[in-house]
Amino acid sequence: MSEHDPTALHRMLTEHGHALIRVPGLREQAQSDPWGAARRLWGEDVALVEAHPIHPVPHGRSYASNQGYTPLHSDSQMACGVPPRVQVMLCVRPAAEGGETLLLDTWALLERIAAEEPELFHALLTWPRRIPFVFGDVFDPTVSLRGGNVVFTHSPMPANDELGGRLAPWIERAPLVELRVEADEVLVVDNHRMLHGRRGFVDPERRFLRLLLWTRTPGQAPEWLRNAVTAVQSAFASAVSPPSEAQRRLAIVLEHLRGVSPGILARRHGVPEPELYRWRDVALRAAQSALEELPSAVDYHEAAEQLRRALDRKLC
Ligand SMILES: [Fe+2]
Repeated sequence: MSEHDPTALHRMLTEHGHALIRVPGLREQAQSDPWGAARRLWGEDVALVEAHPIHPVPHGRSYASNQGYTPLHSDSQMACGVPPRVQVMLCVRPAAEGGETLLLDTWALLERIAAEEPELFHALLTWPRRIPFVFGDVFDPTVSLRGGNVVFTHSPMPANDELGGRLAPWIERAPLVELRVEADEVLVVDNHRMLHGRRGFVDPERRFLRLLLWTRTPGQAPEWLRNAVTAVQSAFASAVSPPSEAQRRLAIVLEHLRGVSPGILARRHGVPEPELYRWRDVALRAAQSALEELPSAVDYHEAAEQLRRALDRKLC
């Protein structure tokens, strides 16, 4: 049984934006202990994990539950304003035919756009857009800085705005990586950098388990791109805040909530158990209070206009 090497995985992600690997037993572990599987794969604790079965069901409407072609997109459901940094596709059983994964490297794409159509590149970094997803709209420039990460946001739905329409032909003619993931293989994708899609298939037995990982440290990006995005973001009032003591405490509360023994947490983090229980109560009460006060709906059109006006004032 070969040992998994997280350092080699990180190197592959930096070089290619994705890695197709085998990690013995990881799929079985992910089904019963996704947090433990994430830690083993990544080589350190992560901030948050989501687990999703990817399996066609009769009349399934989401891409995760049907057999249709899935257009290129980013997984952009947010946790504290940041989309998952890593998508992990653990193959239980591939489709007999079809279902190949498609990947597009947005770093290379942005480099070409910057060279050949600099005005579009500037717009991708500066124009706030309403980008629609099934789980809710994302409201941001196409390329933005979120939690210290350079993030490319792209919906699988057809573009519904001018900038999306200008970007679409670039994406259509960009070179793709096409991969067939076999049983017990693990496809790891940098979700801030790579767009992913899937060819259609006809096989009701195709099964994957998908993990989405939010890491504790931001991802890397080419210096020219990070500098360009940072220059724009510094014009926003909502600069990225550095990690705080509150974030460290919340990470410990999350461990407590997902079943890690308080005795282990007390030793690992040097925090007395009574204090751990106090933090958990404070966090749960704060969450309950915030949920009670949550507005019933967000007016995204008005929010878009407000941000566009603020941006115009800052950049002019
Ligand atoms: Fe996806």
